Amino acid sequence: MKRVLLVFGTRPEAIKMAPLVKALKKRKEFTVGVAVTAQHREMLDQVLDLFEIVPDYDLNIMKAGQTLFDITSHVLLGLKDVLEDFNPDFLLVHGDTTTTMAASLAGFYQGVVVGHVEAGLRTGDKRSPWPEEMNRRITDVLADYYFAPTEVNRENLLKESVPPERIFVTGNTVIDALLWAVKQECNLDGLGLDAVDWSKKIILLTCHRRENWGAPMDAIFSAVKEIKVNHDDVEVVFPVHKNPLVREIAAKHFRGVSGIHCIEPLDYHPFSLLMNKAYFVMTDSGGIQEEAPSLGKPVLVLRDTTERPEAVSAGTVKVAGTDRAKIMGLAEELLTNRAAYDTMAQTRNPYGDGKAAEEICRILVENSNIN
Ligand code: UD1
Ligand code: UDP
Repeated sequence: MKRVLLVFGTRPEAIKMAPLVKALKKRKEFTVGVAVTAQHREMLDQVLDLFEIVPDYDLNIMKAGQTLFDITSHVLLGLKDVLEDFNPDFLLVHGDTTTTMAASLAGFYQGVVVGHVEAGLRTGDKRSPWPEEMNRRITDVLADYYFAPTEVNRENLLKESVPPERIFVTGNTVIDALLWAVKQECNLDGLGLDAVDWSKKIILLTCHRRENWGAPMDAIFSAVKEIKVNHDDVEVVFPVHKNPLVREIAAKHFRGVSGIHCIEPLDYHPFSLLMNKAYFVMTDSGGIQEEAPSLGKPVLVLRDTTERPEAVSAGTVKVAGTDRAKIMGLAEELLTNRAAYDTMAQTRNPYGDGKAAEEICRILVENSNIN
């Protein structure tokens, strides 16, 4: 039996690796191990609980105010013992976090075959998003196998001279997770949403990226506040990332503003339900850009670049950037121009059919002698 170790550390990695953990554990061909770095603690544990995943290893590295140096060094050193103990044939990492990059490096140092799930996403700008664009590029230099969600991602890898026989277009496992989550029974009671007037148009906001800390986040939040103040028929729901820096800026702009509801991060379940109830979404998240088009929700991306051009081409996502006037203009259009709204609100899904995890399993079985 081949030994497969999955390593992840943050909320989005956990959401997108959970379907793969489940699918691999069902196969007789593999002994499966899960190592979490816990780069995130509470937000990771929310996902582990929901998908009933009990890690075999937990590096528990998170600390308040952690720097990229802290994360990289703790993951690298922590995984040395894990890799020696589990002795995997394959190491699977996901996406573009610092956990992803440091875990790939650890696998490479240990001589383990590394598979990158969600490989090949690129903005082409090494500082945007920061540091994620370099995390995924470094991971793709170190990896041996590439599970690319889309053809666009495959093309990006080919341009970097990755051998074509090592790239597999699988769809994105986020769709597997989302299709599962939206089927589960759940309600929004007791989650800080009791004061929300659901008869109004709900704007769902998330914002956390490092490159937005400071002036860009000030501009974004100031635009959101202005949009709310100008529209009586709108309410904003903002599940605020646990990062104290983000919380500070959110409090500065939104404390006491009626109709803007800052709440704790939601479990994935209720969050999916909330996306479904939203009129549109404003976000700098990566994963939400993939999920919202499946639910037919327009998305304004609060970043200058996106590595997910598929939904922009499909017409569901617009890159709004971080300029206050531009964000307000695009939001205004969605709120007041029904035709423009309807054009964006069609359900489209460029990220797969929800069977990506099964497909990755099948590829691993068929290529179990890879090196
Ligand atoms: C990380 C990833 C980013 C990803 C994001 C998903 C890197 C460099 N960044 O960014 O790519 O989009 O996760 O959310 O890998 N905190 C808690 N509890 C938690 C999680 C975070 O208290 O459950 C606080 C801690 O104070 C921590 C801080 O948030 O120090 C920042 O967490 P960190 O993982 O360093 O950065 P993120 O912005 O979350
Ligand atoms: N999400 C969640 N609860 C929340 C906010 C987001 O479960 O309160 C989910 C969301 O559906 C998506 C993922 O978390 O799957 C995105 O995580 P995040 O924005 O932290 O990271 P990114 O995708 O930007 O790396």
